Amino acid sequence: MEQSIEMWKLRCQLAAFAMFVAIVFATTVPAQMGATDADVLRRMNTMQAANAALTTLGNMSNGRVSFDKDQASAARHNLIIAVRKIPRRFRRNRRDPASHAKPEIWFQWEYFVYNAGVAKRAALAIRVNSLSALQATLPQMLVACMNCHQTFRAPDG
Ligand code: HEC
Repeated sequence: MEQSIEMWKLRCQLAAFAMFVAIVFATTVPAQMGATDADVLRRMNTMQAANAALTTLGNMSNGRVSFDKDQASAARHNLIIAVRKIPRRFRRNRRDPASHAKPEIWFQWEYFVYNAGVAKRAALAIRVNSLSALQATLPQMLVACMNCHQTFRAPDG
């Protein structure tokens, strides 16, 4: 039972990916604008950087823009840099009315860091030597982003 729910979730996540990666995150209204706390702004900027890089790779992966090895490589690099920063960016429990960070991040810090580690490994595993290699390795990145958000990020609104 438990397992079939997990499979269902994974299938939904992959279906969302197949539709268009940017749709998933473009609907995330950047709260950045409203935040005033410097630490909160910094962690949001890191997430926006990850999002921009993922969008570039997603657009190439599903053929919205043509595959370009150099651009893909640069985006992969930016994505790795951004996800690597996640534990550091969230270390301090800073609150801001515009933030969607759930308090669980700091109650379950080790699990949060574990999720960041999964995301880091997924970013490192992205292959950009060919379009098919990108297509094969990008979905697990999206799943890592979404899994952490599901647990630790409150929905918009
Ligand atoms: C380890 C957990 C974790 C991982 C992995 C993660 N995120 Fe986030 N992300 C968060 C949390 C928590 C917030 C809410 C931060 C806040 O509002 O203070 C967030 C916020 C965001 C935001 C909104 C930023 C804003 O301006 O409000 C975007 C966009 C985003 N993440 C994209 C991504 C993408 C793309 C990935 C994968 C490449 C990713 N995230 C991976 C935890 C994570």
